[in-house]
Amino acid sequence: AQLPALLAAMPKAELHMHIEGSLEPEMIFALAQRNSVTLPYPSVEALRAAYAFTDLQSFLDIYYAGASVLLTEQDFYDMAWAYLQRAAADHVVRAELFFDPQTHTARGVPMQTVILGLSRACRDAQAQLGVSAALILCFLRHLSEDEALQTLQDALPWRDHFIGVGLDSSEVGHPPEKFQRVFARARDMGLHVVAHAGEEAPPEYIRQALDLLKVQRIDHGVQAVRDKGLMQRLARERMPLTVCPLSNQKLQVFPDLRDHPLKALLDAGLCATVNSDDPAYFGGYVNDNLRAMFAASNMDARHAWQLAANSIDASFAPPADKAAWR
Ligand code: ADE
Ligand code: ZN
Repeated sequence: AQLPALLAAMPKAELHMHIEGSLEPEMIFALAQRNSVTLPYPSVEALRAAYAFTDLQSFLDIYYAGASVLLTEQDFYDMAWAYLQRAAADHVVRAELFFDPQTHTARGVPMQTVILGLSRACRDAQAQLGVSAALILCFLRHLSEDEALQTLQDALPWRDHFIGVGLDSSEVGHPPEKFQRVFARARDMGLHVVAHAGEEAPPEYIRQALDLLKVQRIDHGVQAVRDKGLMQRLARERMPLTVCPLSNQKLQVFPDLRDHPLKALLDAGLCATVNSDDPAYFGGYVNDNLRAMFAASNMDARHAWQLAANSIDASFAPPADKAAWR
């Protein structure tokens, strides 16, 4: 009975959320109106009704359409500020936000507009909400490595506004090995490196992310449960997995949360964390994910504390901050 209160109140870090995935249908329509963008949906209700996904790609098609309403620096600020207020209410003390610049630059939105809008919201979050927030630039893996290299190059003038790079979008058919050069360059620049791996694709993608991209965290990684040797390695190396239960449910990775492997990952000694991925599309923010996952499993307060501790340990926050939150 006290578990839901503990889940809500415990200080936590959110390490896997795409800021474009925090755009609620109401904000999509408000921004469309503000920017005179025509949407292929007549109403908020019609848009929400389209959120019935069969797999990752069926979601991505709608997610990129939703992001098309973002044009000005203020749009990016408003989106991130809305999320950060919501995160503060969930007792998130540290948020590391993914953003997809190629989704915007391809529409003619300048890199500077994207980064400065998001970055200003992160700065205000620290000052006004007490939330430590930082940005991770993601490369779209369905595009080429040359385009990723160009994107990193284009972002260099704002190098101090993001802390790392990631890899997202359509996974199957776009393995980590495709991005070895751009990840090597990012590491050389002192950026943190993470990658989506093992969301829908097999455990081999997780091995490639570790061995070829030398990532510091695996985003999702839930397919590791199919590979016993990999599970042992992830536990031994304390490699963080940023798991997103409601995303896995909505994208039919684990259609029933009672079959979700989160407890198995924790009990096997892996550094798993719980995150919201795309909260506006998957039915909830980080505390909603925790509540749903605990309701569907027999995890207890020790699992809750472990998840909170893991999230803070796995964050890229300064060590002094981590010590204070733990
Ligand atoms: N972009 C936004 N959400 C994503 C996810 N769950 N997997 C891959 N790319 C994404
Ligand atoms: Zn994701």
